[in-house]
Amino acid sequence: MFEIAPSILSADFARLGEEIRALETGGAKVLHVDVMDGRFVPNITIGIPVVKSLRKATNLTIDCHLMIVEPSRYAVEFVKAGADMVSVHVEADVHLQRTLTAIREAGGLAGIAINPATPLSSLEEALPFADFILLMSVNPGFGGQKYIHTSTDKLRRLRRMIDERGLKTRIEIDGGIDASNIAAIVESGAEIIVSGTGVFGKGDAAKGVKELIEAGTAWV
Ligand code: DX5
Ligand code: ZN
Repeated sequence: MFEIAPSILSADFARLGEEIRALETGGAKVLHVDVMDGRFVPNITIGIPVVKSLRKATNLTIDCHLMIVEPSRYAVEFVKAGADMVSVHVEADVHLQRTLTAIREAGGLAGIAINPATPLSSLEEALPFADFILLMSVNPGFGGQKYIHTSTDKLRRLRRMIDERGLKTRIEIDGGIDASNIAAIVESGAEIIVSGTGVFGKGDAAKGVKELIEAGTAWV
């Protein structure tokens, strides 16, 4: 089974409450929140106060993707603000195992996010301490980018790496996913599918989620 995690980066922030209702109606289970600091990535987006408001507004799983330098300084704060899942980039944290453990101890699910050019071998030691891996299929920083085609093979190799070790780690994938490529991605072993443009791009978020579920189910 797979879940759709709409990225609110592509939502209309002035109507965020309504947009979230639409995602719920469409059948989304996870709300993907892209936190960018203008340093790890070129863009700046949203932070802890918005997560606190989201927590009051929805029962969906809140998934915070931290695209920030020194994520260990803030990861636990996001859990305290109401995030259920928090991912930090392997490229951004020199004490990754400590940060993952801190997220778990705070009551969150801990994730490792990994950029397209970073090899899967960089996950090896920290894998047992992660509840999920966030595989980037675009370079982080912006919504609406094109899916990097080599990501599907990387996803298959990650699936194998997790299964061979008998781990329960879930795989989330993020970037450039829409109704045209979701089926192959689900078939390759991803369980949480992030989509921004694919959900919000046509102006009806409920319909966007439904279409993705339908397209992804073709292979299940
Ligand atoms: C990219 C973000 C993504 C992005 C996905 O830096 O991490 O979550 O919002 O948007 P789409 O689906 O438009 O590629
Ligand atoms: Zn993201």
